[in-house]
Amino acid sequence: MTFLNKKIIIVGASSGIGKELAILYAQAGCSLGITGRRAALLDEIKNNYPGQVETTVFDVMGSDNIAHLESLIQKLGGLDLFIYNAGYGDVSEKPDWQIDKTTILTNVNGFAEMVNYAYNFFAKQGYGQIAATSSIASIAGNHFAPAYSASKAFMSNYMEGLYLKAKKIKLQLTITDIQPGFVKTKMAKGPGRFWEASAAKAAMQIREAIESKKFRVYITKRWWLVAQLLKMLPGWLYRRIG
Ligand SMILES: NC(=O)c1ccc[n+]([C@@H]2O[C@H](COP(=O)([O-])OP(=O)(O)OC[C@H]3O[C@@H](n4cnc5c(N)ncnc54)[C@H](OP(=O)(O)O)[C@@H]3O)[C@@H](O)[C@H]2O)c1
Repeated sequence: MTFLNKKIIIVGASSGIGKELAILYAQAGCSLGITGRRAALLDEIKNNYPGQVETTVFDVMGSDNIAHLESLIQKLGGLDLFIYNAGYGDVSEKPDWQIDKTTILTNVNGFAEMVNYAYNFFAKQGYGQIAATSSIASIAGNHFAPAYSASKAFMSNYMEGLYLKAKKIKLQLTITDIQPGFVKTKMAKGPGRFWEASAAKAAMQIREAIESKKFRVYITKRWWLVAQLLKMLPGWLYRRIG
C-alpha cells in the first residue's frame, strides 16, 4: 500500500510519536486529520503543510468522540487509515485513582469507542486499516503503573479480537497493534529506561509496519527480544523478580 493520496486520521498527534507520524504522512502527500487538546501544536503542523491537514481539538475522555470523528472524516472526504495514538499513564507510589481513572478513560474508553466506530465504518466501506499504539507494557502487570499496563493489555487484546473478526468475514481490513518499548517523549516516565528511541525513529518504524500490513510490531525492532523473554518467563518467576 502506498500512502500517496491516502486519507488518514491520527488521534493524539499534537506531540511525540503521533506528531512525527503526522509529519511523515504529510511529507508523503497524504490528507491528514489530526487531533489532540493542544490546538496551537496541531495548527503548527497544519501550517507547515497547507491544504493537506485538518485539525480537530477535543478530549478523548469526553462524550463527543464520534461526532468529532465523523466531522473529520467529512472534512477529509473519506478515510483509509485510522490511528489511535492518544495515551496517558503515570507512575505513583500508592495506587492513585485520579491517575488510574484518566488512564482508563483515555486508553480504554476513548480507544474502544473510536476503534469500534472505525471498524464499522470500514466494514461498510469494504476496506480500510486501523492501527493503535499500545505498549510493550501490555505483556505483563507492573508495579510502577498498574492501570497503564492493564489498559495497554486491553488495547492489544481488543486489536487481536478485531483482527480475528475481520478475518472471519473476509473483510479487507488491516489491523496493526503497535507495541513500543521506550520512546523519548513526555510520556516516558519511571526509572531504569533503556533502548530509548527518538519519536522520529519510532514513527518511521511504525509507518513501515503499517505499510507492510503487519499485525503486531515492536518499536524499535529490538524490543521483539524483550517481548519474547517476557512471554517465556513463567508467571511465578516474573512475580518474584518483577
Ligand atoms: N513514550 C514511550 O516510551 C511510550 C512507550 C510505549 C507506548 N507509548 C504510547 O505511545 C502513544 C503516544 O505517546 P507519546 O509517547 O508520543 O507521548 P505524548 O507526546 O504525550 O503524546 C500523547 C498524545 O496523546 C494525546 N492525548 C493524551 N491524552 C489525551 C486526551 N485526553 N484527549 C486527547 N488527546 C490526548 C496528546 O495530545 P494533547 O496533550 O494535545 O491532548 C498527545 O498528542 C501513547 O499511547 C503511549 O501510551 C509511549
